[in-house]
Amino acid sequence: MKNILVTGGAGYIGSHTVVELQKAGYNVIVIDNFINSNELVFQRIEKITGIKVQYYKIDLLDKTNLNSIFEKYEIDCVIHFAGLKAVGESVKEPWRYYNNNITGTLNLIEIMNNHKIKNLIFSSSATVYGNPQIVPITEDFPTGACTNPYGWTKFMIEQILKDIQKSDNDWNIVILRYFNPIGAHSSGLIGENPNGIPNNLMPYITQVAIGKRPELSVYGNDYNTHDGTGVRDYIHVVDLALGHVKALNKIEQKAGLCIYNLGTGKGYSVLDVVKNFEIANGIKIPYSIKPRRLGDIPTCYSCVDKAKVELGWEAQFGIRKMCEDSWNFQKNNPNGYQ
Ligand code: WQD
Repeated sequence: MKNILVTGGAGYIGSHTVVELQKAGYNVIVIDNFINSNELVFQRIEKITGIKVQYYKIDLLDKTNLNSIFEKYEIDCVIHFAGLKAVGESVKEPWRYYNNNITGTLNLIEIMNNHKIKNLIFSSSATVYGNPQIVPITEDFPTGACTNPYGWTKFMIEQILKDIQKSDNDWNIVILRYFNPIGAHSSGLIGENPNGIPNNLMPYITQVAIGKRPELSVYGNDYNTHDGTGVRDYIHVVDLALGHVKALNKIEQKAGLCIYNLGTGKGYSVLDVVKNFEIANGIKIPYSIKPRRLGDIPTCYSCVDKAKVELGWEAQFGIRKMCEDSWNFQKNNPNGYQ
């Protein structure tokens, strides 16, 4: 297996995965519509790996241009990141999220099928588990009962992929359920570069650290957790990227459809993250307690035994390194990719 098509490869997780795929010797082709990413990232990737990225500005809703990529290249496997992913925005714009994420994926599958390419790794999310009754979460936990349209699109796409693989055993599909990706490549050249006001915790913290935001709002300190603030399973984005390289081995084994949690198996609260960030970087992060955020769940962290045993993968980086690397990217790119 040589030629890997990465949809959404200009994004935060996509770009880090492109780096690790190139380092592992794969030939990577990227398509991205740059709606929530910047093509400058490809110059940064080339600085890291020394390998030019073949990329095309293509939207998955544009079937003609999407098909042209499969005419031009002998694709061996597709890693599918492309999708809208802001939880709050999805509540305000459900149609846009269902159309973009689901129709886009159906177009991709149709065109792959037409070209007899049936190897796919799908970027899913722990959000499909909804609010777990107990933790840690294993892959056989119930899914659905999502709390927002973004989560429902991930759940529905998983269902589509399961049904397709059941109908045609030639499909090899790996579904990766990400927990909370943070951190950045150690070079500080690529990292999380959200448009506008960050929804997620770590990019908000780094913007407070660089002086772009006066303080962090901690959404609720009355949850049933050790310090009352929300607990999540934060995983270094490079660990996440390496999980995709390992997943390619599963595709090569023609294992049908497999599902894996990609997390660390450890839960950290919001205040734990703040404390670790302050210690790791020697920067004080002012914060104030605000009301709970709609749709938030108290606690979510993974059991990662299955990925360890079946993929031979486990996260290597701890929370301090995640905090160091997040800050390193932010301080080297105060205004993101310029
Ligand atoms: C983490 C914790 C907040 C911001 C979402 C998606 C998930 C994935 C990751 C895409 C929570 C608290 C946050 C802030 C805060 N996205 N928080 N102040 O909501 O766990 O997951 O992003 O794949 O699918 O659901 O991540 O970083 O937004 O929140 O107190 O300014 O930090 O309440 O407890 P979340 P998050």
